Amino acid sequence: MRGRIPDSFIDELLARVDIVDVIERRVPLKKAGREWTACCPFHNERTPSFYVSPAKQFFHCFGCGAHGSAIKFLMDYERLEFPDAVEELAQAVGLKVPYEGTRDNAPREDKTDLYAVLDAAARWYEGELPKSAEAKAYCTKRGLDAETMTRFRIGWAPAGYDGVIRSLGTSERRMQLLTEAGMVASSERGSKYDRFRERLMFPILDRRGRVIAFGGRIISSAPPAREDQEAGIHARTSQQSTGPKYLNSPETPLFHKGRELFALWQVKQANSSLARIVVVEGYMDVIALHQAGLPIAVATLGTATTPEHTEVLFRAAPDVVFCFDGDRAGRAAAWKALESALPRLRDGRQAYFLFLPEGEDPDTLVRKEGKEGFEKRLREATPLSEYFFGELSHDVDMASLDGRARLAERARPLIARLPDGAFRDLMAQELEKRSGARAVLEPDPGTRRAVQRPVAVQRSLVRSAIALLLAQPGVADQVEKPYGFLRFDKPGVELLAELLDTARTRPGINPAMLVEHFSGRSEYAALQKLMAATVVGEPEIQRVEFFDALTKMEQQAITQRRDALVNKNREGALSDAEKAELRELLAARVPAPTASS
Ligand code: UTP
Ligand code: MN
Repeated sequence: MRGRIPDSFIDELLARVDIVDVIERRVPLKKAGREWTACCPFHNERTPSFYVSPAKQFFHCFGCGAHGSAIKFLMDYERLEFPDAVEELAQAVGLKVPYEGTRDNAPREDKTDLYAVLDAAARWYEGELPKSAEAKAYCTKRGLDAETMTRFRIGWAPAGYDGVIRSLGTSERRMQLLTEAGMVASSERGSKYDRFRERLMFPILDRRGRVIAFGGRIISSAPPAREDQEAGIHARTSQQSTGPKYLNSPETPLFHKGRELFALWQVKQANSSLARIVVVEGYMDVIALHQAGLPIAVATLGTATTPEHTEVLFRAAPDVVFCFDGDRAGRAAAWKALESALPRLRDGRQAYFLFLPEGEDPDTLVRKEGKEGFEKRLREATPLSEYFFGELSHDVDMASLDGRARLAERARPLIARLPDGAFRDLMAQELEKRSGARAVLEPDPGTRRAVQRPVAVQRSLVRSAIALLLAQPGVADQVEKPYGFLRFDKPGVELLAELLDTARTRPGINPAMLVEHFSGRSEYAALQKLMAATVVGEPEIQRVEFFDALTKMEQQAITQRRDALVNKNREGALSDAEKAELRELLAARVPAPTASS
């Protein structure tokens, strides 16, 4: 792990880069008043609702709600982790990212070494393949051509339990890295051995093309090698007879199964823009499709499709085809995928399901039917809505009232998981049509945006004040200390004070920088959202509204105090000082505040 990146550096970085520049290089922008605009890169749309504000150094999409700083944009657009996005921006403006030591002052290690050791392992496996007649024969049998072998960096982990260790674990440090990278395992007696032996190796790359893990396939069912038995680690190392068909790297600091997709990098390399991406179950399926001229296939890595996968998929292409075996396991997996897709189905995104004939997988099918055959199947894939209603009503009697009520009961909570939009309305209408029941949907707190009510009414005073401050942190200078609004007893007041203090000590701070000061804090996400709400707006009006909100908070603080004292007085519990205070408050006749709190 790398150390923490100091706040001061993030400030400097965000002051140096221009978000318009960063985004423009990836998404062509058009000038629109003070802002820049484009069709949103995070969802499919025809009319632009994606705005970039140079003054605020912030982007916001009014269609899908995506928003953030230049760092956040890179994280979302290129699917980078925070430190990687920072690295990339820093590189672009010629800054070097400093890392702070950990608490115990030992400098935390850079992930660069882990990437390097995994890349070296991939290269080593690639080099071993030509030396194994058995492995080469297997590749030929599976119909892999040379170009595909290179494109996927397919390799061979030879027999023996210390090939990787001997070639790459040449120092204690490197052994430690190999272990951390998941390439080396320990026996019960503490001896270290290669995790992958006698397996065809498929490197798993991240979206920048770096090796982060491996999948390894057994190619025969020969008995365990003699040397393993002699080494006394038979049970743990004899993979040919007892191990799984495919062995994947364990979770490591670089590899999270629930997030990675095999071959996404190859897909991105092969297509500058992509209308459709296909998710299949296996490594060999992906590889066969790519080789057949369909470099649009990815696979999850021995896990069910997660919502995170789904988000990555939809960012890669507006149409996602989930491809499964036609058997029961395949159907179950498809339904899981559907559930993970629901909350991600913003307008413009479409999911399809392709079920294959029994006994076939994409690998066997594309070899039989060719590219055209498989493309035809893709074109004829079942739209999510059809699969959805078909699956929910297959075991109910749609001719009976009971059956239709059953359908409605099952479908409602699922439809409620869809984001607001035309698609959700269509699904609700479809349910109504099929079941005859009105599809009254409970708002789902996770996905439902409150769109009907105007922002001003539903947002509290404190939240408005914070949003308006985030829009132009410069106003902090004009707020007098001590802050009168601090007496206002509502959540968020202290956060507002902290934001003001931060902005005051850093003259010239831009909105994105200010929000970034709170990264890693629980308030961060909320601040990003508030910031997004004011990305488009007249600075002068926002300034007036900000001071207006502060004044109202002070007034309401006085009302709160007055009411509290009146109540206490009813119980006859006021001290002399409190009595005097109450008299003063009553005489001041603070007007009832007009805005809601
Ligand atoms: P399959 O068993 O369907 O294999 O597993 P496949 O993809 O058709 O592979 P070939 O054609 O026999 O070589 C599908 C996927 O499930 C995961 C792998 O990702 C595999 O590609 N899997 C399977 C595992 O992770 N472990 C296993 O033991 C088996
Ligand atoms: Mn197969």
